[in-house]
Amino acid sequence: MRIAIVGLGYVGLPLSFQFARSGVSVLGLDIDTVKVDLLNQGKSYIKHLPDEIVAEVVRSGAFSASSDFSRIREVEAVIICVPTPLNKNREPDISYILETGRGIARFLRKGMLVALESTSYPGTTDEDLREVLQIGSGLEAGRDFHLAFSPEREDPGNPDSKVAIIPKIVGGLTPACLEKAVALYSKAVKTVVPVSSCRVAEAAKLLENTFRSINIALVNELKVVYTAMGIDIWEVINAARTKPFGFMPFYPGPGLGGHCIPIDPFYLTWKAREFGQHTRFIELAGEINTAMPSYVVHRVADALNERQKAVKGSSILVVGLAYKPNVDDERESPSYVLMEMLSERGAKVAYYDPYVPVIRPTREHAHWAGTKSVAWNRETISSHDLVLIATNHACVNYQELAEWANCIVDTRNAMACVPTRQGQVSKA
Ligand SMILES: NC(=O)c1ccc[n+]([C@@H]2O[C@H](COP(=O)([O-])OP(=O)(O)OC[C@H]3O[C@@H](n4cnc5c(N)ncnc54)[C@H](O)[C@@H]3O)[C@@H](O)[C@H]2O)c1
Repeated sequence: MRIAIVGLGYVGLPLSFQFARSGVSVLGLDIDTVKVDLLNQGKSYIKHLPDEIVAEVVRSGAFSASSDFSRIREVEAVIICVPTPLNKNREPDISYILETGRGIARFLRKGMLVALESTSYPGTTDEDLREVLQIGSGLEAGRDFHLAFSPEREDPGNPDSKVAIIPKIVGGLTPACLEKAVALYSKAVKTVVPVSSCRVAEAAKLLENTFRSINIALVNELKVVYTAMGIDIWEVINAARTKPFGFMPFYPGPGLGGHCIPIDPFYLTWKAREFGQHTRFIELAGEINTAMPSYVVHRVADALNERQKAVKGSSILVVGLAYKPNVDDERESPSYVLMEMLSERGAKVAYYDPYVPVIRPTREHAHWAGTKSVAWNRETISSHDLVLIATNHACVNYQELAEWANCIVDTRNAMACVPTRQGQVSKA
């Protein structure tokens, strides 16, 4: 069987490799020709996907990449894994899905399957994508071609997160669409979970991510409340998590990051309005989570104040630019918000992240582009008035940090594992 996977990013790439290793021939399609060229040379551009994996599937002939959409003629099924961000008004931007749909439609043939994986609101597959596919191809979904939605459950940086063993929800437009999609995913994934429609599958993904966003907001709020009461939230969570039923630990942080949790719930909020419904939990969680960087900046100011210093004129080192530990993905990272807020207040801001040696040019953080991670040594670290731990990569030597840094504000409880001096560390 030969399939195409459109969008060779954090989701599409591991999925491609899993299919390729399961005996399915994969054509990876992406508009980014730099990625396409790298992949065809057997090279990865994502830290947790080593070159050897890419080289293996390219060498075996099971995977190749291209930017030529006309090659969709060669395949039986197309899986779409393109971005679904929010626009500047924080509304869903499904333009990448629609663009991809138009690109596919011209080459769609009878009997083919199109499956969407990008997270979006219920109705994206059977309304929006269906429409562009039908208009562009002159074919009818459910009669001439199959249409399905199967949400991605990628967890970058988690060594236990393997595409093959994570159960995969699949919803189809018709029972025949579902059957076709289940048959496809069963080739690469151990457990496929069929549901009655594309909308149920879309809604399940939004429930999963909204659940995380709300629970993170809860512990973020409790962090502020318990700190005011002189109680350590981390100790509280570690105690509560000993309960063997009915509790699941979530941890506070400097604010939400990444491409899913801060964004996906607002896809639901937007769609719910069409039905006259309000998503108050989602809005409240968003409000609490987006207030976290401001709380952290106040804690930084307090820590400096203790040392007769002001934020203005102080040199502050942010440790960890990636949005979560052990990944090289710094898109939507709260570290940027912290750096921005601190530099607006007159601090001299630098960062250390071994996974992000230099900040790439992006639209959102244009003026940080080209900024390099500082070196990791006593002289550099001790030259800063304050070190702010924003992301707790496991590879950072926190023992050395304790020896070298004057003052540390820790948003991740990273310093709990090493001895520190009295008053050296404050949590935020
Ligand atoms: N990253 C995650 O951990 C994660 C987890 C679960 C779900 N998701 C969802 O999966 C989807 C993809 O996320 P991602 O992190 O892989 O994004 P990504 O930005 O890493 O990758 C998307 C890829 O699509 C390509 N692309 C964009 N427009 C295209 C087009 N018209 N045609 C072909 N290629 C195109 C980009 O060049 C890029 O390589 C999103 O909906 C996201 O919400 C992501």
